[in-house]
Amino acid sequence: QLADSLFIINNFARDYFVKTLHETEEGQNVGLSYFEERGFTEETVRKFQLGYCLNERDAFVKAAVAKGYNQEYLLKTGLVAIRNEQPADNYRGRVIFPIHNQSGKVLGFGARILVKNDRAPKYINSPENEIYVKSKVLYGTYFARHSIDKLDECLLVEGYTDVVSLHQAGIENVVASSGTSLTTDQLRLIKKYTRNLTILYDGDNAGVKAALRGLDMAIEEGLNVKLALIPDKEDPDSYVRKIGAEGFRQFIAENKQDFILFKLQVSLKEAGNDTTRKSQLVNEIAETISRIDKVEDFTKQQDYIRQCSQLLKIDEEGMVTLVNKYIR
Ligand code: CTP
Ligand code: MN
Ligand code: MN
Ligand code: MN
Ligand code: MN
Repeated sequence: QLADSLFIINNFARDYFVKTLHETEEGQNVGLSYFEERGFTEETVRKFQLGYCLNERDAFVKAAVAKGYNQEYLLKTGLVAIRNEQPADNYRGRVIFPIHNQSGKVLGFGARILVKNDRAPKYINSPENEIYVKSKVLYGTYFARHSIDKLDECLLVEGYTDVVSLHQAGIENVVASSGTSLTTDQLRLIKKYTRNLTILYDGDNAGVKAALRGLDMAIEEGLNVKLALIPDKEDPDSYVRKIGAEGFRQFIAENKQDFILFKLQVSLKEAGNDTTRKSQLVNEIAETISRIDKVEDFTKQQDYIRQCSQLLKIDEEGMVTLVNKYIR
């Protein structure tokens, strides 16, 4: 009941922001121009149902109230907030990215400021409520699912604009974690379509660290995880615009590496000659390998034992023993 009401309001808001973008002067001059400058085509903007919220105090609230929507529910969606004791639009002067569930219903929104500044956050996202549970959602799933299924691979990026740009470049099997670290529920969502996950994050940042932390979880879920590091200062959106669709595909193909082996190499570098750190590391990697399902993926586990022992320069039999110790 409450959930239905929130979906109805989000649906109305999505349509309202789309209409505002295309049919008002401000929408065209400010919102559409912004998307154009980013290189998004009209078709892309339509497909992702991108919108614009007028830079007015309460244009949306007024339209929603006139439609008969209940103020309490409007507040719950985060589209509206109380300012100076009056309801006001929360996404004023921002471009809007609707966030869909797998069947295309609008769970919430990400609203981007047009010009970055220090006073306001770059994105305002919907708060969690009865229909929007951040940890269960991956942006773009609705648009990506057929392609993920067909190619039997899911690409994971950080942001809304990465998904949109890659789609436009014809790379459609892509979803975004929206700047948070991966959760088990999100991994299970991916697993409905494929077991092959390729992470496309920039190497410099917290994203990869977060992904590394999520690695054991991904393995537990039986996913094959690969990684291609996007060059410094770029993200998939900027990079695909820079080198083109074919260039981007080629880059991924050439730079895709196994995530477990990547993690091991990073840790090995960090440990250097520190023997204590190194033996810690041996244990960590054994634990990770132990999470690979021995029954389902026996050869896969054996392959990792062999490759990791070699990288660590330790005896393979010893590694087998250690891995078995961690199997619960
Ligand atoms: N994000 C957020 N709030 C912020 C910054 C980021 O919710 N203040 C989330 C958004 O989902 C964003 C993602 O984290 O898409 C990645 O952040 P970032 O790389 O900073 O943004 P981009 O997606 O690259 O956006 P843009 O290209 O428009 O700067
Ligand atoms: Mn499949
Ligand atoms: Mn980043
Ligand atoms: Mn970006
Ligand atoms: Mn980015």
